[in-house]
Amino acid sequence: MTAQHDGFDGGEQNLRRHPAVLTSMKTQYYSAVSLDGYIADENHSLDWLFQFGGEDPTYDTFIKDVGAIAMGSSTYEWVLRNDLLADPDNPKPWPYSQPSWIFSSRTLRELPGADIRFVKGDVGPVHAEMRKVAGDKNIWVVGGGDLAGQFHDQGLLDEMILMMAPVILSKGAPLFTRKITKPPLRVVSVTPYPEGFTQIHLEVQR
Ligand SMILES: NC(=O)c1ccc[n+]([C@@H]2O[C@H](COP(=O)([O-])OP(=O)(O)OC[C@H]3O[C@@H](n4cnc5c(N)ncnc54)[C@H](OP(=O)(O)O)[C@@H]3O)[C@@H](O)[C@H]2O)c1
Repeated sequence: MTAQHDGFDGGEQNLRRHPAVLTSMKTQYYSAVSLDGYIADENHSLDWLFQFGGEDPTYDTFIKDVGAIAMGSSTYEWVLRNDLLADPDNPKPWPYSQPSWIFSSRTLRELPGADIRFVKGDVGPVHAEMRKVAGDKNIWVVGGGDLAGQFHDQGLLDEMILMMAPVILSKGAPLFTRKITKPPLRVVSVTPYPEGFTQIHLEVQR
């Protein structure tokens, strides 16, 4: 066996001994999705999601390992409109302590006190900056589907973690706007939750 092989095997054993290493430093597209592949209905409504009540049972564990967040402008504006500024007299604070990169070609409303960086164009250099800031934590691509696709185009997307709700929307904002067939996504796990969701954890194979 060559020295190179020894090094490779040692690395694999090291990863097996320290499973945390396997789960860190990923770029993850984590989203709720309808059975037919939409993350919002045609009016950008998430009412279909909130009927299940409460919070996503996997969110607290997921967010602990996130060091940087990316989202498109529709998602950002949805959060402002429907949550943070829904009651203008009682604005809520930005919910993320992690630095967040918002993609838009427009000038969007800023939120005082929030670590938000407005960016546009090529996701490559933005991802490099996010990677530096996130350190040994993961990058969360919140959505939408085309933004996640832009990361995938450059080989930067490692995983999709989808909370599938048992509803059919028939149209709306798509989960993903790229074709992935060969190699297919690898199914890491499928976990049903009593709330009605099924989590599908997928890995992008290269
Ligand atoms: N179910 C869930 O868990 C979940 C998760 C996330 C989002 N959502 C919802 O799903 C919907 C997603 O909306 P969407 O499909 O329109 O996606 P989006 O990614 O939120 O917004 C798309 C917009 O972001 C801007 N953008 C994207 N990439 C850019 C780039 N590289 N440079 C500059 N600007 C860029 C463009 O708008 P401008 O340039 O005009 O600003 C683009 O039209 C929203 O309603 C959101 O609330 C649901």
